[in-house]
Amino acid sequence: MNLADLNKVALAMVAPGKGILAADESSGTIKKRFDVIGVESTEDSRRDYRELLFRSKEAMTQFISGVILYDETIWQKAKDGTPLVKLIEQAGSIPGIKVDEGTQALPGCPGETITVGLDRLAERLKKYYEQGARFAKWRAVIDIGQGIPSYTAVMTNAHALARYAALCQAAQIVPIVEPEVLMDGDHDIDRCYEVTEFVLKEVFQQLYYQRVALEGMILKPNMAIAGKKSAKKASVNEVASKTVKLLKACVPSAVPGIAFLSGGQSDEEATAHLDGMSRIGGLPWGLTFSYGRALQAAPQKTWSGKTDNVAAAQQAFTHRARMNSLASKGEWKADLEKKQAA
Ligand code: 13P
Repeated sequence: MNLADLNKVALAMVAPGKGILAADESSGTIKKRFDVIGVESTEDSRRDYRELLFRSKEAMTQFISGVILYDETIWQKAKDGTPLVKLIEQAGSIPGIKVDEGTQALPGCPGETITVGLDRLAERLKKYYEQGARFAKWRAVIDIGQGIPSYTAVMTNAHALARYAALCQAAQIVPIVEPEVLMDGDHDIDRCYEVTEFVLKEVFQQLYYQRVALEGMILKPNMAIAGKKSAKKASVNEVASKTVKLLKACVPSAVPGIAFLSGGQSDEEATAHLDGMSRIGGLPWGLTFSYGRALQAAPQKTWSGKTDNVAAAQQAFTHRARMNSLASKGEWKADLEKKQAA
């Protein structure tokens, strides 16, 4: 492992004003997204859609530091034969790869899951590196509910995350460590805070036990936020101040960067929350976005599978990327959203 090079890549992933595009939806998830816009999910339609994103020159060169790809996409070629990975590299962005293989029921823990995919991961990482991937992602999923999460679920998922991260660094790939506490329930922001704190403490303990170099990784957490069905919605200021407090309590300053998931927040909420945190300032790590839905919902809807809509969809993507870039610098304003809508 060359830690100086891993650190360089990690810092580039959170370069000022830039963030990560999570375009790593599994075939099942992208089908769900395409169902909403009435597009059949085929190898070609998935390729056409992702090619549209990666050819959005302004967004990709100015606002997107890296792209997380799904296994299918990293091997695909654009319509003109250029590998999609090359399109990303030509825009000055870094290709990355989702390497977990989804979740399975965790035995003995009803309603809880464990993320799988460690078997043969070392060999897979070697192939992904040869194909151009310089970072990877593994998502652990923690649900909040009656009597959950259990320590068993938190500990086994943190253990797997650290196993994955150590294997990535041995393969000269920067691991994005993503322990996602879901915002699906009716819990309030303080319950989310408490569970996320418990999860992050365990994750960093496991990273330490498994000798992961913090300087060569990126953390991808959820924000401290009320559940979608909560009766008590938290304000932007409350989400921003509690999330910053939480991260300061749990994330060592040796970590180069934190890139949030959007997790089902609306496009504008995800942007406003990031902006609120950046305005607090004085943080030891780079803070930015690694959004999937909050970057892609708008371009997906505009595109709706039609070639004639490609340019407009690219504009919609560029707008969201620009808004989140501004938010990562604490320079976003709600008025800027209205200008695009007008
Ligand atoms: P969302 O921003 O849609 O939550 O997706 C980010 C991601 O990579 C989840 O694993």
